[in-house]
Amino acid sequence: MPDGSFDISRRLRSAFGRFASGVTVVTMRDSNGDPTGITVNSFSSLSLDPPLLLFSVGCEQISCKWLKSGNHFTVNVLAREHESLAWQFARPREDKFDGVSWRTGLNGAPIIEGALAHFECVKWNIVEGGDHLIVIGEISDFDARDGEALVFFRGAMGNFASAG
Ligand SMILES: Cc1cc2nc3c(=O)[nH]c(=O)nc-3n(C[C@H](O)[C@H](O)[C@H](O)COP(=O)(O)O)c2cc1C
Repeated sequence: MPDGSFDISRRLRSAFGRFASGVTVVTMRDSNGDPTGITVNSFSSLSLDPPLLLFSVGCEQISCKWLKSGNHFTVNVLAREHESLAWQFARPREDKFDGVSWRTGLNGAPIIEGALAHFECVKWNIVEGGDHLIVIGEISDFDARDGEALVFFRGAMGNFASAG
């Protein structure tokens, strides 16, 4: 890659980081049936009828392979107390669930205990988007609780408590 495009990518990543977001962990099963997951902040609601959500995953991520080959995943919206868990799922490692409390959802993917919300999905479509894939899921089951959100802004995590 020429030096100039590396610089543009770095600046673009930094500019994208000005958009404050929540933090999710998308969980799934690998080809051995073992639980795995990836920290994702590109999550968005998409449709109410049918109930759809989306996120994007980099084609170089290991999770991209499991999302392409598998049919089920769950989006877990993280709470304030999940910061170290968010960093744990943001690094490649063998056992991403080490020390994490979770249970198996109806779709077979892990649900992280204490998540502010979780959305169990069946893969609905995958669309190419440059060096990422846009993954669209149809929500088959979900739940939510009150609590303070984990927030990502300019490479750091903080928290947000709503007034309601
Ligand atoms: C706050 C945060 C948000 C992230 N969001 C995304 C995302 O939306 N899509 C993505 O592909 N990677 C995202 N990442 C990077 C992945 O979590 C990271 O590359 C991870 O190690 C990939 O794991 P894997 O290779 O086991 O799939 C994010 C990282 C952080 C810290």
